Amino acid sequence: MVNVMEKDILKVLVSEEELKERVRQLGEQINEKYRDKRPLFLGVLKGSFIFMADLVRASGLKADVEFIAVSSYHNGTRSSGVVQITHDLQQDITGRDIIVVEDILDSGNTLSFLVGYFKAKGAASVSIATLLDKPSRRTKPVTAEFVGFNVPDEFVVGYGLDYAQMYRNLPYIGVLKAEVYENALD
Ligand code: XMP
Ligand code: MG
Repeated sequence: MVNVMEKDILKVLVSEEELKERVRQLGEQINEKYRDKRPLFLGVLKGSFIFMADLVRASGLKADVEFIAVSSYHNGTRSSGVVQITHDLQQDITGRDIIVVEDILDSGNTLSFLVGYFKAKGAASVSIATLLDKPSRRTKPVTAEFVGFNVPDEFVVGYGLDYAQMYRNLPYIGVLKAEVYENALD
């Protein structure tokens, strides 16, 4: 089979094998912390969907799942800064232990807003599991308890992360060739 996305990739930052092993480790850490609880894995759509699916299975816990969708990024690589809920919680989270599952923690805008939102909704506790962290970009004081990998300040795609809604289904984390962005501007 020809993977038609491959030709757009400049380099692989985190391989499929590295992702698999790290998610297994994060699952273990979460299992140890929440073994006696029934946490709610709360995925931030759309970027978290693949990480969420793997992490919740790796946790080995009696857990349930929920999703919220926000938009702060428009098509492209720039943040608008404003966080808007585009699909809200479909259940009461009062008293729940929440594990927010994110693809990437960048400026911290999205997660600082969401942590405040879930606390205001009555969550008993809120912790963050993010696949990727770009600590150099932080403008809000947000820390994730469970972090897959720190990445440099480059725009990354794959394993849930997109560019213009594409490349989410790459099985690894990679960086796109500059021409992909240039062509998109035509
Ligand atoms: P903030 O700045 O709110 O950003 O912490 C979090 C959201 O920004 C998106 N984001 C990226 N998406 N590649 C992506 O595909 C990236 O390198 C990247 N950096 C930030 C992402 O949606 C995340 O939820
Ligand atoms: Mg996201």
